[in-house]
Amino acid sequence: MIKYQRSKKEPTVKQIETNPTISHLVAVSNNSVIGVDNHLPWTLKADLKHFSAYTQKKTVVMGKNTFVAIGHALPNRKNIVMSSTMKSSDEVHVASSLQDALDFAELWNIQINLENEIVIIGGGEIFNQTLNIANKLVITRVNCDIPGDVFYPKLDMSKWKITDSSVHQSDFENEYEFTIETYLLK
Ligand SMILES: NC(=O)c1ccc[n+]([C@@H]2O[C@H](COP(=O)([O-])OP(=O)(O)OC[C@H]3O[C@@H](n4cnc5c(N)ncnc54)[C@H](OP(=O)(O)O)[C@@H]3O)[C@@H](O)[C@H]2O)c1
Repeated sequence: MIKYQRSKKEPTVKQIETNPTISHLVAVSNNSVIGVDNHLPWTLKADLKHFSAYTQKKTVVMGKNTFVAIGHALPNRKNIVMSSTMKSSDEVHVASSLQDALDFAELWNIQINLENEIVIIGGGEIFNQTLNIANKLVITRVNCDIPGDVFYPKLDMSKWKITDSSVHQSDFENEYEFTIETYLLK
């Protein structure tokens, strides 16, 4: 069970003990690359569709660089951006720490009656900081070895059990073959 210390600034709920699913939704190459020049290093239309379908009506947490790379708030999802330099707006809640992001996400899910899942969507810094609290991984394994400057952290796969896997062939809209795998913490 994950127990978060609540901040004193949140008078509505003093302490909550919930059991949220904290998932990583990531696409990674054979050599662990996830990004280059603040962009995705591939064109995979079917994976973008999968990303969109998986995150619909959920709360997503991302780092500032990923938000800049996407270029806008994701519609139909609660967008939480971790940043020490951005300001919150109508479309985006800016969290100044990981604890802030998780607290806000958890409260939002409870208040809006959303599924109790917090989807971490990157990038490298945020995946690194949340690897030890994630209990679900939805990994697109992109079958390529490519140059990049942001990497997904090395996982200890003995801690995870695979629950789903589907292969997608490359075609004119999908540069590389890829496999979407779902893992749950053992
Ligand atoms: N393949 C994939 O699945 C995938 C998914 C997402 C992103 N990406 C790629 O990953 C790259 C971006 O990753 P990245 O590692 O450079 O950046 P990032 O994780 O998206 O964002 C890093 C920024 O987040 C803020 N931040 C980080 N930790 C924080 C904390 N604890 N509290 C408050 N703010 C915090 C900081 O912004 P401030 O300076 O504002 O404080 C920091 O510069 C891009 O190339 C993107 O395309 C790939």
